[in-house]
Amino acid sequence: MTVWFNPAHSIEQILRKIAAETDGFDSTFEPGVRPADPKFGDYQGNGVLGFAKKRGVNPRELAQRLINAALASEKFDPALVELSLAGPGFINFKLSPLFLWEWQLAYSTKADYRTGARALKDGRRIVIDYPSANTAKQAHIGHLRPMVIGQAIARLLDFCGAELIRDNHIGDWGTNFGTLIMKIKRDAVDLSTLEDHALVILNEVYKAGSAEEAAQPELRDISRNELVKLQNGDSENTVIWEQIVEISKAAFDKLFAQLGVEVDVTLGESFYRDKVDRVYKELVDIGLAEESDGALVVWHDEVKKFARDSERPYPFNIRKRDGASNYASTDLATILYRLETFKAEEVIYLTDARQQDHFQQLFLTTEKWFKAKGYSLPELRHVFWGTILGSDKRPFKTKSGESVKLQALLDEARSRAYAVVTEKNPDLPEAKRREIAEAVGIGAVKYADLSSNRTQDYVFSWERLLSFEGNTAPYLLYAVARINSIFRKVDLSPDAPIAGASLPETDSELALARKLMGFVTALELTLNDLRPHFLCTYLYELTSAYSTFYNSDKVMVDDAAVRARRLILCARTRTVLMTGLELLGIQPLETM
Ligand code: ARG
Repeated sequence: MTVWFNPAHSIEQILRKIAAETDGFDSTFEPGVRPADPKFGDYQGNGVLGFAKKRGVNPRELAQRLINAALASEKFDPALVELSLAGPGFINFKLSPLFLWEWQLAYSTKADYRTGARALKDGRRIVIDYPSANTAKQAHIGHLRPMVIGQAIARLLDFCGAELIRDNHIGDWGTNFGTLIMKIKRDAVDLSTLEDHALVILNEVYKAGSAEEAAQPELRDISRNELVKLQNGDSENTVIWEQIVEISKAAFDKLFAQLGVEVDVTLGESFYRDKVDRVYKELVDIGLAEESDGALVVWHDEVKKFARDSERPYPFNIRKRDGASNYASTDLATILYRLETFKAEEVIYLTDARQQDHFQQLFLTTEKWFKAKGYSLPELRHVFWGTILGSDKRPFKTKSGESVKLQALLDEARSRAYAVVTEKNPDLPEAKRREIAEAVGIGAVKYADLSSNRTQDYVFSWERLLSFEGNTAPYLLYAVARINSIFRKVDLSPDAPIAGASLPETDSELALARKLMGFVTALELTLNDLRPHFLCTYLYELTSAYSTFYNSDKVMVDDAAVRARRLILCARTRTVLMTGLELLGIQPLETM
């Protein structure tokens, strides 16, 4: 028997096969193997219980029969895994120290984990829609989450074998362009001469334009007219629009570089402007969309939100009364494109929680539309999140009540991290301190965002996220650096094979070896729910298990075999921590 990378999966598959040839089972049997309460073993299969109940047979007897067949099959080496019957009909699996050790030896590098994890997504074609900001607006703290959570999920999917397309669905076709073009023309703003601060100036132009519209309502008609001209391909407005989009792109690219955001394609709302007519026609033809008050809408009775005094739920408005496309129509055209062109099997959208209604209606419409077309429906998932709060538990703002600009936040992270690093290590050369501060500061901001359950709001606190204690990036980064220093002391590379090790024996060695294997479960859990905080919690627990081990079991002992196995545990902890941090988009450091 080889050591399985993912025991829960392997045991599940093997049991299914064995059951197929065992009396009392049939092909519908699902073993239901999952990580177990460590008191009972490493994994537990609970599938026999329900299966036996439905058939009115004794679950314990049936489970015992399966255990006997499994043991007779020689698929389970008793030196590696122990099987036992438990409770009303569970099967417990306990891994022996030999298994735990063989696992450490078989899976030692990031590449090994990657090879093992590939099975989780196995070539699945996934489009991830992120960070998808609106153009012509300066990035603020609200843009942090799509970038940080999006890139962590993207890296994880890629690591687990998905064939991924990162599609930046920018909002480059909104009504704000009417106001912008109106004001740019009124003030004869020359966009081509704006340099570094172009987006800041555009922001101001937009604010001033909106304020003027409020004061002089007739300007609204002008703005609306500019928008219609743009939508009809007017060349002067198209040039202005292109400049605005370009300015935005350059500013966002700078942020992407600092945050490590990768994008494969940028196909924004404007890309779909000539693809919406087909959507209207198809939805009308199948009787899904209808005119209502001049707009084109789709009604879903499943939607449980009602306008006041109305018996029908809110409709999904897919074409405005003036005939213009909107967020819904471009999103429908986008799904069609992702299926037809990218052959997507799954599409993942990242936005804040306020867009849940939009995606509910979008997914319902797509389901019905594709069903009528006989198209296979990709799995559609909306990954959303809560708000970043200040210490007053209200949305995080600057002292003067404005939204915090993302660039300012990153700069502050760097300078605060620099102060912390300088305090801890005043003797390091300045350049080195800056380098560490970059990784610690940006990493800490990301980690704070990733380590809280994304659907909940969280309180942003510089003190907490830069602390070297607790579930923080500095704590994890420091653990990696400490392990590096052990290997420097013994003058070995942590990646070099270490021979002559004996099997782990002490409680803390065994606990650490188990925790290292738990990486697989953590990846799976994070993938299932697309919630990076599961991975963070795991890395934190791993670091704690490592600390317990390091404090109780001396590494540099005289016994060469014991020393070797402890060094191996140090090396594995380092590799899993580094791999996990990289998946989260955080750059581990050699020294700190
Ligand atoms: N641009 C949108 C916003 O800033 C997010 C777009 C999300 N993606 C999508 N296909 N709707 O709110």
